[in-house]
Amino acid sequence: MQAHDHTASGSPHDWWEARYAERDGIWSGRVNAVLASVAGGLRPGRALDLGCGEGGDVVWLAEQGWEASGIDLSATAVERATRAAHAAGVAERTAFVAEDLATWSPTGSFDLVTASFLQSWPVAIPRAEILRRATGFVAPGGHLLVTAHAAPPHGDLPEELRSYRFPTPAEDLDAMELGDGWEVVAAELRPRTATTPEGTAHETVDSVVVVRRR
Ligand SMILES: C[S@@+](CC[C@H](N)C(=O)[O-])C[C@H]1O[C@@H](n2cnc3c(N)ncnc32)[C@H](O)[C@@H]1O
Repeated sequence: MQAHDHTASGSPHDWWEARYAERDGIWSGRVNAVLASVAGGLRPGRALDLGCGEGGDVVWLAEQGWEASGIDLSATAVERATRAAHAAGVAERTAFVAEDLATWSPTGSFDLVTASFLQSWPVAIPRAEILRRATGFVAPGGHLLVTAHAAPPHGDLPEELRSYRFPTPAEDLDAMELGDGWEVVAAELRPRTATTPEGTAHETVDSVVVVRRR
């Protein structure tokens, strides 16, 4: 996510719609590196991407042979994701829905549930609750991967956003409230070099949690 100068107001839905309306293509369209490394080691099956944005991760998963679905609050983002899947020739292996993960539940379960940077500032979302509910979407033997910004992705946040608390791997793991039927595959910080919108390199760090339902 890129730092910006909005002030907090309204619902997460309205805030994200307004953000996507600012311009076409607010993300790179490329797969997130953590997802590529985790999913690259799994046998393709059914995947679900939480907060899919413009669909870069879903399109990549479909290209690897997954039946991949994406959910996002923003209808504009979902429309762009659908277009991206058509452009990549994987539309028949993808599905996108504009829904709120605070309340939405899928029919059926998934071999991989992934969330890349499902974070919202300055308008907060019930993220812990969403992660806990997401465990219920995972099929036996399936994985849940949560990648989050654990530090500002592009340098300092603007003053009005400095109260945002970045999640740690332990906090995201706690939020999942896993019972005995789960194995923790990874819960760690991973350093990463990000490129700012101005094109300069910036060192940041991601929180990566991978759990597997037995
Ligand atoms: C930082 S963006 C990340 C987008 C994408 N995963 C990526 O890595 O490029 C966070 C996304 O989560 C979505 N989002 C935030 N809260 C949500 C909610 N409650 N339900 C569904 N999507 C949500 C936003 O609309 C936004 O597209």
